[in-house]
Order: sequence, then C-alpha cells, then structure tokens
Amino acid sequence: MKVAIIFHSICGNTYLMARAFEEGLRAKGQDVGLYRVADLDWTSQLDIPQKTEENLKAMMALPQATPESVSDADLIVLGSPTHFGNVSAEMKAFMDSTGGLWFHGKLTGKMCAAFASAGNTEGGGDLCLQAIHTYAKYMGMASVPVPVTLVSGENWPALGIIQYSNGKYAEALDQRTERAIKNYCVFLLKICIK
Ligand SMILES: Cc1cc2nc3c(=O)[nH]c(=O)nc-3n(C[C@H](O)[C@H](O)[C@H](O)COP(=O)(O)O)c2cc1C
Repeated sequence: MKVAIIFHSICGNTYLMARAFEEGLRAKGQDVGLYRVADLDWTSQLDIPQKTEENLKAMMALPQATPESVSDADLIVLGSPTHFGNVSAEMKAFMDSTGGLWFHGKLTGKMCAAFASAGNTEGGGDLCLQAIHTYAKYMGMASVPVPVTLVSGENWPALGIIQYSNGKYAEALDQRTERAIKNYCVFLLKICIK
C-alpha cells in the first residue's frame, strides 16, 4: 500500500506524531512518503530550545506536499495542529490546493486517517479532526475511525489521534500517544488492505 502522510507543525508536536505514523506504517512494510505543508513563517520559529530546533530543521528538510503527493497514494494520513478549533491555515491552504483533484475525482475511493495536536483537552482538537474528515468526504475518501478497543483501558476519540501539548514545544512524543499511533497503524492496515 502506498501511504502519504501530510502534516503541518509549528512547535514540533504534530511533526513527532507524523514521524510515529511513518515509523509504524514502514515497520509493517508499507511504502510511506512523509511531507510537510508549505509554511512561510517557519524560519521565524528558530529562536527556541536546542532539541526543538533539531525538530524544526528535520521538518524543513522534508519534501513539501503538493497535490501529486496524495494523488497516487492509497491511504492519506493528515495531521494538523489545532488552530482556533480548526486545522491550521497552512494545512487548509494545502487542502485547497487539491481543488483540481477534487474536480476530477482523483482522490475518490482512497482512505483517510486524521491526527491532531491541541493545547488542551477543552481546545477543540476533535474539531480539527472533524475538519480533516469533512475535507475527506468532499474528496470522496473514506474516513478510517479509531476503534474503541485501540488501547485497552484508554479512551481515544473516534475521529483520530489527538495529542495535548499544553502549549509546549515538543522534544519527544509521550508514550501514551506513541502507543496509540502504533496500534492505530496496525488497525489502518487491517481496514485498508483487503
Ligand atoms: C494560532 C494558534 C491557535 C491555536 N488554537 C488552539 C485551539 O483552538 N485549541 C487548542 O487546544 N490549542 C490551540 N493552539 C495550540 C496548539 O494547537 C498546540 O500548541 C499544538 O500542540 C501545536 O502543535 P505543533 O507543536 O505541531 O505546532 C493554538 C496555537 C496557535 C499558534
């Protein structure tokens, strides 16, 4: 299966989630492409702690997503920071750049999975996930839910994986989110490969 992971991140949280998806799906033998969306302000974020600067540099070294990045993928995994209860403007700009694909039905029948980072549990991370799935619907894609059995004894939103950063720059992904993404990657393969 060909997978395109498209993300936006400013402080590195969503980036680390994207990396965990990349690792989880590659470990299962999938052909994975990891792409950042265009962000003209990224370089303004460089005045930050050392570890996070490494994340930023790694992000900037990744290829920039274009409509072609998703047009030949079977599974499209989209991740965004929550900005005012929505995807970030940069992620939305990427979505809008695929208008030509929408017009020609090029993403119809593909699978879509969502993840988000949010400042806190009341911050509307689920709205960010919902915005991704609304986009998926318009594009004719099928949204993959998160099963209630994802991690025994833990609750995760049905719409995707959310990590809460409390507004911090990311140095490492917390183990709870890492485990959830790992399990979700296994579930994605179960659903997407028939
Ligand atoms: C412009 C802006 C708007 C934000 N709006 C929200 C919000 O509505 N809800 C929330 O929980 N966090 C909000 N946040 C916080 C981010 O979602 C949070 O810090 C997230 O972890 C950032 O992800 P990143 O490290 O990948 O950039 C906002 C941050 C910015 C910069």
